[in-house]
Amino acid sequence: MSIEEKLALLKKKNEEAELGGGLGRIEKHHKSGRLTARERIDILTDEGSFTEVDKFVVHRCHYFGMEKQKILGDGVVTGYATIDGRLVYVFAQDFTVFGGSLSKAYAEKIVKIMDMAMKNGAPVIGLNDSGGARIQEGVESLAGYADIFLRNVLSSGVVPQLSAIMGPCAGGAVYSPAITDFVFMVKDTSYMFITGPEVIKTVTHEEVTKEKLGGAMTHNSVSGCAHFACSDDEECLLRMRELFSFIPLNNQEDPPLKACTDDPNRCDGSLKNLVPDNPNIPYDMKEVIKAVVDDSHFLEVQEHYAKNIVVGFARLNGRSVGIVANQPSFLAGALDVDSSLKGARFTRFCDAFNIPLIIFEDVPGFLPGVNQELGGIIKHGAKLLYALAEATVPKITVITRKAYGGAYCVMNSKHIRGDYNMAFPTAEIAVMGPEGAVNIIHRGEMAQAENPEETRKALVADYREKFANPYNAAELGYIDEVIDPVQTRPKLIRALEMSKNKRDSNPPRKHGNIPL
Ligand code: HXC
Repeated sequence: MSIEEKLALLKKKNEEAELGGGLGRIEKHHKSGRLTARERIDILTDEGSFTEVDKFVVHRCHYFGMEKQKILGDGVVTGYATIDGRLVYVFAQDFTVFGGSLSKAYAEKIVKIMDMAMKNGAPVIGLNDSGGARIQEGVESLAGYADIFLRNVLSSGVVPQLSAIMGPCAGGAVYSPAITDFVFMVKDTSYMFITGPEVIKTVTHEEVTKEKLGGAMTHNSVSGCAHFACSDDEECLLRMRELFSFIPLNNQEDPPLKACTDDPNRCDGSLKNLVPDNPNIPYDMKEVIKAVVDDSHFLEVQEHYAKNIVVGFARLNGRSVGIVANQPSFLAGALDVDSSLKGARFTRFCDAFNIPLIIFEDVPGFLPGVNQELGGIIKHGAKLLYALAEATVPKITVITRKAYGGAYCVMNSKHIRGDYNMAFPTAEIAVMGPEGAVNIIHRGEMAQAENPEETRKALVADYREKFANPYNAAELGYIDEVIDPVQTRPKLIRALEMSKNKRDSNPPRKHGNIPL
């Protein structure tokens, strides 16, 4: 064969591989509102940067006539590329080939790029769209999944792992995305569940739709298994690029610095009156966040889940930060099971990947209730405490209003290694709110008073005067600085700058035992 003929053969093979399951299946796939694996990679990565690996791999199954059906690439497109010039490894499942189902050879392709990512220190992005284990392969396919799961676990905290669910993802297959750091879902076309509606109907006689059981909004707002709900494939991939811009390539690196055009000394007058005089009136903590971060750019994570805590990425003077903030406009910002889980997981991601944490605090305490207690608020609330206490990245707190009880300790207090703790003059730092406190410590006095209601009011006012302020804590050095709210941005940027070379560590151990 001449070199021309050899090159022609290579071209033919490349073209064949790029067609995946063929034009007919591609058309059907498009009609379902989904892009193909290669189209997705094109949007996700920098133009022309993708290098495909293992393009000619085929499966090795000899059962059910599979030996006569071999498709180059075998249903998953894998390789490396760049996003904004930074290295990333990608796998995209190709539903047009055997429904994107996973064979052993297909799993080996994913495993190969995951191993490369670990060796070379770069994130892995998985675009999932698959009917699950390749049924014709039996246990070999399950072995392939387990090989991937192991790598997901070993990569956790070493390189960031992002998953998009862009079609079906069922059975044990969901456990690979579940272990990754962030899960993006596409509304109406993606779903995740362990057992689908049919199996559920047989076993428990419950009737449920695919959407209700495992659609994007279910996992974003009810189960908390996903972090982003996107309206279509393109939006999903662009959001992944956005998130990528905030994070480092691996745990040995700092996140990328972005040139900042927003004045670091900018004060924001709107913050002066944002916290209402009446402590029982809510306000939106996202207003505070947007007022202080660079260009008001805040990438909120899990915005539909446990809205009493707000988490997400932003920048301060070009530096990536992770924000964890109580949200007084939802459940008064009280901490419950879901918000503790949400806050803890996000905190641990930031800590693993050297992203400083900014905590905005307005919390009346842990949410009271039988459901909460029986639901394990003790162990779940402890997760947030554990995560914030063990974190060694710079940790800066701004108390805007309430910092009561155990929640004061948990929300990055000085005592659990807060690096710089600030408070607005509107802050109330105490064991509990004035009403509750007076009911307990002055019960006898009020019972004997001629006019109990008047007495109660006077005692509440007295308690508020004495304790509902930041100055007791400031006198003890538990608050480093009481600040004018309009100066929050410059104060945060200074504190961040001051702590940027922070070195801290935890005692040597195999691993801690977070209360799971
Ligand atoms: C082999 C599969 C397949 C699979 C789909 N296909 N899933 N082939 N193994 N798991 C094939 C179909 O036979 C079909 O081939 C083509 O892919 C497209 O599938 P359709 O059914 O036509 O597509 P659609 O109507 O969109 O339905 C998609 C689907 C459905 C909902 C995913 O295919 C389905 O229910 N598949 C089986 C899902 C499943 O039970 N998987 C195993 C889960 S257990 P032809 O040639 O006919 O077009 C599991 C365990 C993992 O995954 C454990 C890890 C530890």
